[in-house]
Amino acid sequence: MAGNWKMHKNAAETAAFFGQFLPAVRNTEGREMVVFPTFVNLAAAVGAARGSAVEIGAQNVFWLKEGAYTGEVSAPMLASVGCRWVIVGHSERRHYFGETDDTVLKKTAAALDAELSPIVCVGERLEERESNATEMVLGTQFTAGIAPLSPVQFAKICIAYEPVWAIGTGKTATPEIAAAAHHFLRTEIRRCFGDDAAAACRILYGGSVKPDNIKGLMAQPEIDGALVGGASLDPASFAAIVNF
Ligand code: PGA
Repeated sequence: MAGNWKMHKNAAETAAFFGQFLPAVRNTEGREMVVFPTFVNLAAAVGAARGSAVEIGAQNVFWLKEGAYTGEVSAPMLASVGCRWVIVGHSERRHYFGETDDTVLKKTAAALDAELSPIVCVGERLEERESNATEMVLGTQFTAGIAPLSPVQFAKICIAYEPVWAIGTGKTATPEIAAAAHHFLRTEIRRCFGDDAAAACRILYGGSVKPDNIKGLMAQPEIDGALVGGASLDPASFAAIVNF
């Protein structure tokens, strides 16, 4: 269960979140939990979550280790403050900041080199779904952004299917729509990496996941977890999702 805070929460709000969230998930078993604060609050979040089952990740990463790249943050830098995860290719990064399948691939490889676990995001826009292009879009994002990884690299990533029309809109994909997309992605994984990799790969669903729809989504065998935006900002609601 991954909570993507996007550009929300200052230092005090980050501390307050962990103060309420950690007690609420103290007895949670069998669930992996990751929170993705903004870069500036990563180190504090790592400190706050230390000793708990909650891990911390970053929302983005650059693909080179260091150099004259004003404003960028490298994977080894993230690892050095205790980050364990990173989101790569979120649709907001693809659409507002010009990320491409090529940069997604480079960032994923760089994250793996630093022993971070990447959650690589794919998903179609509304007009693509309405013109029956969903599988074409997912297939292209997979083929160009994920398939070139080596089998060893692939075994260490999670994929997040996030239909762009469902993100922040309150329009969750139905469990059946999400499961069909996950099934398509798993078929692509099988084609490129084989049966075992397809069975083992964790595919998260993201897009307006809330406490009241998580159960139905997670009832789908194809759905292995959730990447939660808005509902992860509130400790009680994210705890309810984690403990669905
Ligand atoms: P949302 O965001 O849950 O607010 O729709 C999901 C995401 O973008 O990861």
